[in-house]
Amino acid sequence: MNEKDQSASPQGSEYEVHTCTPALLSAAEISVCADIVVVGDAVDSASARRNLPRARLLAIARTKGQIVGVAAIKHERPWYAAKTSRDSGVAFAKNTLELGYVAVLPAHQNKKLSQRLVKALLAEYTAPLFATTYTEYMKRTLGKAGFANKGKEWQGRRHMVSFWEKGADAPEKV
Ligand SMILES: CC(C)(COP(=O)(O)OP(=O)(O)OC[C@H]1O[C@@H](n2cnc3c(N)ncnc32)[C@H](O)[C@@H]1OP(=O)(O)O)[C@@H](O)C(=O)NCCC(=O)NCCS
Repeated sequence: MNEKDQSASPQGSEYEVHTCTPALLSAAEISVCADIVVVGDAVDSASARRNLPRARLLAIARTKGQIVGVAAIKHERPWYAAKTSRDSGVAFAKNTLELGYVAVLPAHQNKKLSQRLVKALLAEYTAPLFATTYTEYMKRTLGKAGFANKGKEWQGRRHMVSFWEKGADAPEKV
């Protein structure tokens, strides 16, 4: 997990996907990742810049040396897990980490990069995870990665948000 280039590209792919801890990226690279997350509107700018460097694990997609996609297993945030549990009506352990900050630059979307990014994270991190999303494309990626949609949708900042969970055997309802 502390090696930068351990995830091989599928043969013929112009993209390389690898996992790393934030400490292995430069400040400039972290900033590029935050910009991609913000461009994708996955989260507000301040929280991406604050939380990306604290992530447990990152997956990065590059082409020609440029970072074009990112995904993260975020640091433990029990208060946020508790809020998400209340919002969704799904009981889960408050120390469960969240998969998020999944974003791909528009010019590189629809090339299976979100699926490769999530798969790379899951190959390294095998404990239960949760995720929330409002985009149909992300729902497809989560479903293919083995996440199950549970509970009820709730009103987020701008959209209705759904809850997804992988690897947990907690009862579905609070
Ligand atoms: C959501 C997002 C990360 C998906 O990344 P991506 O690399 O383009 O997605 P993938 O190529 O891996 O495709 C995922 C699924 O969505 C579908 N999809 C993606 N873009 C599509 C498009 N433009 N048209 C139709 N289907 C599309 C794919 O077909 C795939 O489904 P399938 O495997 O059943 O065919 C990307 O659209 C993005 O960055 N959006 C803005 C940020 C965001 O909303 N992030 C999610 C926060 S929770």
